[in-house]
Amino acid sequence: MRIDILTVLPGLLQGPFSESIVKRGIEKNLVEVHLHDIREFSKDKHKKVDDTPFGGAAGMVLAMQPLHDAITKLQSEREYDEVIFLTPDGKRLNQGRVNQLSLCGNIMMICGHYKGIDQRLRDHIITMEISIGDYVLSGGELAAAVLTDALVRLVPGVIGDEMSALTDSFQDGLLAPPVYTRPAEYNGWKVPEVLLSGNHEKIRKWEEDEALKRTKERRPDLFD
Ligand code: ADE
Repeated sequence: MRIDILTVLPGLLQGPFSESIVKRGIEKNLVEVHLHDIREFSKDKHKKVDDTPFGGAAGMVLAMQPLHDAITKLQSEREYDEVIFLTPDGKRLNQGRVNQLSLCGNIMMICGHYKGIDQRLRDHIITMEISIGDYVLSGGELAAAVLTDALVRLVPGVIGDEMSALTDSFQDGLLAPPVYTRPAEYNGWKVPEVLLSGNHEKIRKWEEDEALKRTKERRPDLFD
């Protein structure tokens, strides 16, 4: 999988991609993540990337030329399965959507800033608009980092069996059951007996029951 991210703040994304799972995916050559600074495409002599909105509304809009040129250049180099704009008014991200997107080969992500991007780019170029939740971030970068992390961990081979993505919360429509590790008793707090029983069938049943119980208590909406 190849992910290209267009942003005016590439520095904001370097940290999240140089640690942990995304770093591992890149090092194993299973994923490529490329950051592109939209400012480098600006033909303005001051490298300006924003402009005032028509109609006189407050705030600024990411200018058309640098962003469109950046997108066009990337599209001339390869075909993209999706060109995603991260925006609070996009479709809400969930595990199902992440699973679908994880089948893509090439994904482009556009990080909005200021009041957003020109609607004509959304009408003609963007193929998918994604929100990571009903709150407003200062830009799309952290949302792109969230989406990238969720995608990369699903690429076969990126995470080992010891952290199998298939047992994550949401993968079977339920929250994951609680987990425990050694020692079996700490500070007087005991691990549920069944987990020490060695009876795999009983343990599986307990995990299923706990996952159901937890989902009913915390996220009854997942049953809708
Ligand atoms: N940009 C700003 N807020 C956002 C959000 N909630 N999701 C995706 N992109 C955003």
